[in-house]
Amino acid sequence: MAERETWETRLGFILAAVGSAVGLGNIWGFPFQAGQNGGAAFLVVYLAVVFLIGFPAILMEFVVGRRSRRNPIDAFRELGHGAWAIAGIVGTFTAFWVLSFYSVIGGWVLRYLGGSVTGAYFGDATAYFNAISTGPEAVALHAVFMLLVVGIVAFGVEDGIERSAKVMVPSIVVLLFGLGIWASTLSNAGAGYDYYLSPNVDVIVDNIASILPSAVGQAFFTLSLGMGAMIAYSSYLGRDDSLPRDGGIIVIFNTLVGLLAGFVVFPILFNLGIDPGRGGSGTAFKTLGGAFGQIPSGKLVGIVFFFVLLLAALSSAISLLEVVTSFAVENTSYSRPAVAVGVGTLVFLLGVPSALYSDYLTWFNLLAYDLFLPAAVLLLALFLGWVYPHGAVDELRQGTAVSATFSTVWLWFVRIVIPAGILLTLVLGVQELLVQAGVLESAILLS
Ligand code: PHE
Repeated sequence: MAERETWETRLGFILAAVGSAVGLGNIWGFPFQAGQNGGAAFLVVYLAVVFLIGFPAILMEFVVGRRSRRNPIDAFRELGHGAWAIAGIVGTFTAFWVLSFYSVIGGWVLRYLGGSVTGAYFGDATAYFNAISTGPEAVALHAVFMLLVVGIVAFGVEDGIERSAKVMVPSIVVLLFGLGIWASTLSNAGAGYDYYLSPNVDVIVDNIASILPSAVGQAFFTLSLGMGAMIAYSSYLGRDDSLPRDGGIIVIFNTLVGLLAGFVVFPILFNLGIDPGRGGSGTAFKTLGGAFGQIPSGKLVGIVFFFVLLLAALSSAISLLEVVTSFAVENTSYSRPAVAVGVGTLVFLLGVPSALYSDYLTWFNLLAYDLFLPAAVLLLALFLGWVYPHGAVDELRQGTAVSATFSTVWLWFVRIVIPAGILLTLVLGVQELLVQAGVLESAILLS
């Protein structure tokens, strides 16, 4: 077995974890989900979910990763409960699944980077998106994106992952901030803010059956939870770090980036007269493309923006591939590069349908959000809360300044709040899948 690497510095870990969390989920996924689920209504539920379920859940993954110092599947055997490896298997499978369509979107980013240079999307941003998002060229760019991801993962943790995160994290915040300020000057920006920031209680109550699963899925997706990624990253962590503090930084930072993306996208949607509910998976691309077509030095801003988005997408995608790679490297005699190439090829093939037909991408995404992610986090919560509570609390308290009260409250969140929230989500999520598939005419529960 290869000797295990560790992070060079604590900041290295935080940056890499933030790099994993901040990605297409924040900039592509968040406006898409918020737009489909009533804007501000979604925002309220999402924020509640992030802090009540997302924060304690990220600590669950840290606890498993740091205590076991193993990949997300072998971790459970290391902790003495091999049967619970099923939690890691579901997560690892989900990482594989998600990466397949994530890479297709990564391919779109590459396309938009090129389009910024030539000004290709400056005319009609919506038509451009519709033209490029599916088809043979989308497949080709999906392949290029996967090649980049495989290349970085092949080099290993310190050289590839840590370094690329350091550049992307600060740049993305600065750019989104600038764009947000520009967006505030647009005509009709007020309607965008209104849609985004003024929640209507009736809308929340009437649509909770579809808002809740989307909000939970989005929270897990953007925090990189339920896919083993945070288990894998924290397995390289030193014993003296404070897990709650690191987790808190990551959660807050990640949430801010998503919020910021909303401040950019919604004013632009309303300015361009696009119905947020109809933007679909292209919402962010259509609005940003439309914006760069209008602003002074739009080409330059477009190039910089999509370059940074590419870095963000890469730093997330590498952590998805790392999950599967670390398992295979530690369990076979194949070298890291060979494994990365092999797994990368399989992921690419699974993603081809999503690059050809937008319906596939929507379905892959929906299954991950409504089913796989919640299932993986639920299994982990049941394991830590009810099977391994003493080890879990002990590990949480390693490092500095974690009070007994904090760890007790955390344990009860893990035992009750997270499972209850997720069970409700799963039931509603399956219902939503059946409605979308046309099996159910409309929601029965909570409708
Ligand atoms: N959090 C990433 C995003 O929001 C996606 C991701 C999930 C990355 C899981 C790694 C692991 O884009």
